[in-house]
Amino acid sequence: MLLDTFGRRAVDLRVSLTDRCNLRCTYCMPEEGMTWLAKSTLLTDDEVVRLVRIAVTRLGVREVRFTGGEPLLRPGLVGIVAACALLDPRPELSLTTNGIGLARTASALRAAGLDRVNVSLDTLDPQTFQRISRRDRHHDVLAGLDAAGAAGLSPIKVNAVLMRGLNDHEAPDLLGWCLARGYELRFIEQMPLDPQHGWDRATMVTAAEILDRLQPRFTLTPEPPGRRGSAPAERWLVDGGPARVGVIASVTRPFCRACDRTRLTADGQVRTCLFATEESDLRTALRAGASDAELSGLWRAAMWGKKAGGGIGEPQFRQPERPMSAIGG
Ligand code: GTP
Ligand code: 5AD
Ligand code: SF4
Repeated sequence: MLLDTFGRRAVDLRVSLTDRCNLRCTYCMPEEGMTWLAKSTLLTDDEVVRLVRIAVTRLGVREVRFTGGEPLLRPGLVGIVAACALLDPRPELSLTTNGIGLARTASALRAAGLDRVNVSLDTLDPQTFQRISRRDRHHDVLAGLDAAGAAGLSPIKVNAVLMRGLNDHEAPDLLGWCLARGYELRFIEQMPLDPQHGWDRATMVTAAEILDRLQPRFTLTPEPPGRRGSAPAERWLVDGGPARVGVIASVTRPFCRACDRTRLTADGQVRTCLFATEESDLRTALRAGASDAELSGLWRAAMWGKKAGGGIGEPQFRQPERPMSAIGG
């Protein structure tokens, strides 16, 4: 088991498969991109699958989410999913993507054993999309969403980060659009993870504001407490349900006390938290010939050092050195 000193147990593994991306969202990357991780430091497909196998068969991980950067840019993705789907016990397998390329790959991913996808979509307007992401790819994202539905990936969740004066007025339209298509929309408070250090608590669109924007158009009632584990989204039933909307209030209502996550970066480092300042190097041990038992021990020791929380609200808070794109959302 992956336990920490606060009594939390990590059962949800997020695996970043690449730090690269084909968009340049202003809240995530500068126009010119980043200094990408050196190829030699990236885990190979076999190395990724081995570490996932250890997490699932020895350490109690039950859910595996592939992230990036943009995970669809990883050439071996379908093979990695297929190998992970053969593990016993079989983990739940999901993908967080910007949707570009999903139109081409959704059915192969489904056939390989992917259960579900979360797709980022911040706006319904192609021009606003271009302003946010610096790329003219809105149409590809919508095509990706369509393909995910047709392939039977379910449920489909849509992630939207709202920014003041840019897309915050779109909140009710985005919800209406997602409801009409059966997607579960989640609004995300922007977190201080951009390499440009442009995040400002004072201008961030808060969960409370998002709800205020939705309420004139929709009746929202808190979802009855259920068996939802520690998923970061707080959910509301829309107009009596069963449709729902979620808000991920990482900044104003952090959920660290219930955190059940562990993370693996594309270059083989365990991170205990999005905001961790330290990492534990599994890649070097793995390449030096460490056994499954030794790698499990390193992973357990890393999680035992997990801090109480991300600490965004604390005066001594410092952004982690790795940007979001290299941590894996
Ligand atoms: P499901 O609800 O299981 O589908 O997944 P999810 O919402 O955890 O995953 P997703 O990759 O869609 O992430 C949505 C948002 O939640 C992103 O902005 C993530 O950065 C954020 N997020 C994911 N995990 C954590 C976490 O452990 N802590 C914090 N603070 N934010 C997280
Ligand atoms: N704060 C909150 N969410 C972010 N994402 C990317 N950067 C940030 C940030 N700084 C979102 C993406 C995607 C998800 C994985 O994380 O929009 O939906
Ligand atoms: Fe977990 Fe860190 Fe996110 Fe808090 S900020 S929920 S501890 S990953």
